[in-house]
Amino acid sequence: MRQKTAKNLILFASGSGSNVENIVRYFQADSRVCIRGVFCNNPKAGVIERCQRLGLPLYCFNRVAFEDPDGLRLLLLSLKPDLLVLAGFLWKVPEHVVATFPGQIINIHPALLPGYGGKGMYGMRVHQAVVAAGEKESGITIHYVNEAYDEGAVIFQARVALEGTESPEDVAAMIHALEYEHFPPVIASLLFPENG
Ligand code: GAR
Repeated sequence: MRQKTAKNLILFASGSGSNVENIVRYFQADSRVCIRGVFCNNPKAGVIERCQRLGLPLYCFNRVAFEDPDGLRLLLLSLKPDLLVLAGFLWKVPEHVVATFPGQIINIHPALLPGYGGKGMYGMRVHQAVVAAGEKESGITIHYVNEAYDEGAVIFQARVALEGTESPEDVAAMIHALEYEHFPPVIASLLFPENG
């Protein structure tokens, strides 16, 4: 049941959606938070099955709807989001959407920005690049979304040391663990700054 005073959360995902599921589970017993929708740009994404299983409102869209200021933007506005969370979402957010929700869109990136960010740097590609460069550490960055890929103000980072023997898959697993631990509480701290 949606409470009148509940904070409205919207999630965006393009792939498996394990972060979406983790966020949903974190807030499921919290009546102060309402997941108003999961938005997905990929009709083959694993997150779709998760939405069915978890009973979440799912909205699939294409680039035309996203780019149209009278398209997805109006649907998002009608859901009255307090926060829009990109949780494994791979498209650039159009300027008109960023401008409509100033300071209300956040993204998680699976590396320590400004390193290993920008166009084409997502998911396993990031971990492959980190391993190829022989980095001694990696981590996660949660940041506000602006008009440029991965360049908005940083909200939170967490680090993990690398031995140099890890495969990209090992690094991906370490990064996912950091994401599961930190992303939901960071979202909570933005929704309820008075509790921080
Ligand atoms: C996550 O590691 C997230 O940080 C990354 O995609 C993965 C999605 O995993 N996001 C990006 O690379 C954005 N540039 P999930 O679908 O299992 O949540």
